[in-house]
Amino acid sequence: MNLHPTLILSALKKVRYPGTGKNLVEMGMIGDDMRIVGNKVSFSIVFEKPNDPFMKSVVKAAETAILTYIDPGINIKGNITAITKQVPQAEPENYLSEVKNIIAVSSGKGGVGKSTIAANLAVALANLGYKVGLLDADIYGPSQPKMFDMEDVRPTMEVRNGKEGIVPVEKYGVKLLSIGFFVDKKNALMWRGTMASNALKQLIADAHWDELDYFVIDLPPGTSDIHLTLVQTLAITGAIVVTTPQEVALADARKGIDLFTSDKVNVPVLGLVENMAYFTPAELPENKYYLFGKDGGKRLSEEMHVPLLGEIPIVQSICKSGDNGKPVATDTSTLTGLAFQQLAQNVVEQVDYRNAHGEASRRVKVRKP
Ligand SMILES: Nc1ncnc2c1ncn2[C@@H]1O[C@H](COP(=O)(O)OP(=O)(O)O)[C@@H](O)[C@H]1O
Ligand SMILES: [Mg+2]
Repeated sequence: MNLHPTLILSALKKVRYPGTGKNLVEMGMIGDDMRIVGNKVSFSIVFEKPNDPFMKSVVKAAETAILTYIDPGINIKGNITAITKQVPQAEPENYLSEVKNIIAVSSGKGGVGKSTIAANLAVALANLGYKVGLLDADIYGPSQPKMFDMEDVRPTMEVRNGKEGIVPVEKYGVKLLSIGFFVDKKNALMWRGTMASNALKQLIADAHWDELDYFVIDLPPGTSDIHLTLVQTLAITGAIVVTTPQEVALADARKGIDLFTSDKVNVPVLGLVENMAYFTPAELPENKYYLFGKDGGKRLSEEMHVPLLGEIPIVQSICKSGDNGKPVATDTSTLTGLAFQQLAQNVVEQVDYRNAHGEASRRVKVRKP
């Protein structure tokens, strides 16, 4: 007899896949490898999963259908192969492939100066000669556009190496992108959750960050799905936890350190920064007033075995510079500019140590300005 694939398929249409009640052809389960040589017919049946409970019975039913509806003399027994759809291996995402170190700046509480530290750290690292990017990932209160006086700037799109991407804006030697460039403050609520996570992923994956020594991320305060998205998406070199000397802030910083070092997140903590550690009046630079208590950051760093990377004084110039869009770290002739330069040096030291030894140094000297 003259066997033709359509004939075989017509027989296979009589066989239902028990999982759905639809026939094998409808289900698209017949492989495109059908071969007919003389009276020998062979093909494969494609199953979704390797552990399909109906696999054997479906193969048997297909054999029977061909022998019953076409010709009992067809050589089909043992010629039907059950195969399973290859689970496509997810391509390992190679985000930020030209970025050497990714530093996440976080805090347990809002308002402790996380964005101030992130901005000044980025500027100070650029001053030290490094190629630096800053991503403002704080969807709840993006503040980097203001800190860099870039509130009215909108990043452009550009095709580079055949890939269209967002071009970070650049100021004080720092490449910057902020979720704030894309969100209307009024609509910020809408952006939370998955949408914000996706928008952030785009700012990371679809932007031309190019080659960077340091990629600093200003995280939202506390812990959220944004944190999880980022730690799962990026190979973060280390986190910096910002605190103020008050007990409540220290308690939240402790939780932050615990979260990063937990099995679920597993991001090394590069160290702690104590912001608003003390107050020094401009006219009495030798005097330090510990308005919120002394050595809170130092004690927490010893308790949690994480380095204290810096103690930043509370000064009006920091507050003002945040408002007028010129981070104090741009001027290293000032005391606070120096404090940030030393913070940047300590961060570089920690990162270098970690890259060389695979583990952060447990002790670091804080050089006070
Ligand atoms: N060391 C400091 N001295 C004076 N003002 C500061 C200092 N650090 C932060 N501020 C001010 O405190 C406010 C909150 O800081 P910000 O960096 O926005 O905190 P966060 O990002 O943690 O919410 C801002 O107005 C900022 O200018
Ligand atoms: Mg902030």
